[in-house]
Amino acid sequence: MLVVIPDVLTPEEVAYIRQVLERTNWIDGRTTAGEQAALVKKNLQVPVDSQEGRELSQIVMRGLARNDTFSSAALPLHVLPPMFNRYDEGMTFGAHVDGSIRVIPGTGQRIRTDVSSTLFLTPAEDYDGGELVVHDTYGTHSVKLPAGHMVVYPATSMHSVTPVTRGSRWASFFWTQSMIKDDWRRNMLYDLDRSIIRIRQTVPDDDPAVVGLTAHYHNLIRHWTEV
Ligand code: NI
Repeated sequence: MLVVIPDVLTPEEVAYIRQVLERTNWIDGRTTAGEQAALVKKNLQVPVDSQEGRELSQIVMRGLARNDTFSSAALPLHVLPPMFNRYDEGMTFGAHVDGSIRVIPGTGQRIRTDVSSTLFLTPAEDYDGGELVVHDTYGTHSVKLPAGHMVVYPATSMHSVTPVTRGSRWASFFWTQSMIKDDWRRNMLYDLDRSIIRIRQTVPDDDPAVVGLTAHYHNLIRHWTEV
């Protein structure tokens, strides 16, 4: 299941990040790709250990921390520091699945990548191509969002970025280890949480139906958490 999350960053945060990225050094994106993905990857990235990379990463992390939809959809245990990439004209990333294990820079801690996220940083009208194409059990989805919006999808999905044919596409991307490893269970919890939020708009919070469903939601998380 893909979840689109609008306004993860404010327009001011997007503008600031873009301003810093304008003057940063970009390196070949293949430096962080596995051997097989490196064959189909053609883009640029900000070095994760650079001062700009670390500062901008914190801004994205703050946006995630205040976003209830991200918490509900990803049920995060660990979030790897967000990275930044760009696709100029002719750049692309062919079909691949992201590596299953990544190491948190500086700590050596190993993270299982359950959820992939792409946060768009360029207005959609400023470039052509550059769609994120995700293949999941429900078919193929093409995603291109306004700056500041984000898509979250299972890291088990085959995906690609189509060639940019005009302009330049900038984005932040990162992985999350979820408290709920199984995509299907995570999706059911997300749907249940959305339904509880909707029902709370029509009945009081102390209504027995709301109390019962909320208890069920928390007990499912308790039962399914694998950490
Ligand atoms: Ni990928």
